[in-house]
Amino acid sequence: MSLNTVEINQRMDKFDRHASVWLFGYGSLIFKADFPFLERRPAHIAGWTRRFWQGSHDHRGTHSAPGRVVTLVPEPGALCHGMAYLVTPDAFAHLDYREKNGYLRLATDIRFEDGASIEGLVYIATHENAAYLGPASERDIARQIAAASGPSGPNVDYLLELAGALRELGKFDPHVFEIERHLAAFKP
Ligand code: SIN
Repeated sequence: MSLNTVEINQRMDKFDRHASVWLFGYGSLIFKADFPFLERRPAHIAGWTRRFWQGSHDHRGTHSAPGRVVTLVPEPGALCHGMAYLVTPDAFAHLDYREKNGYLRLATDIRFEDGASIEGLVYIATHENAAYLGPASERDIARQIAAASGPSGPNVDYLLELAGALRELGKFDPHVFEIERHLAAFKP
């Protein structure tokens, strides 16, 4: 699969005729909503777990020193907590560009805190994309994050903003918080 997923995502027309669609964010989409939305609500999706397994060559790293950002990996029984945004379909031109380094739109059931659920979209970078880095220990991930920086800023800021946003939501993510804990050892 090519590194740039914009074209593939723009062929995904499932919600094109809808006046609005819910988008589930679990990474930077939680703490950086740089797109217009009609409403936002804490939510979760089932069967996926958040992992810092995706490489970032365009935002939080470079081609020679990629950073690490989150993607979702399938895990039966898991719940991934994040933020859902109600957007109009025209928001996806910007979102597809922003998530172009390997993320594909996937239709999924999004469940809100009140138990209601609705089919919406999530961006997931699978192991088949060229920027995928895969598993590493939380300590090694912290080391790589501490060293990486790209056009969107230091990779450390991504990690700390995500951890802060999850705390604000009252959600404990052992993987994210363990990487944050290891970071202290690698700070300059
Ligand atoms: C997301 O936040 O939902 C996707 C991953 C990212 O942009 O950090």
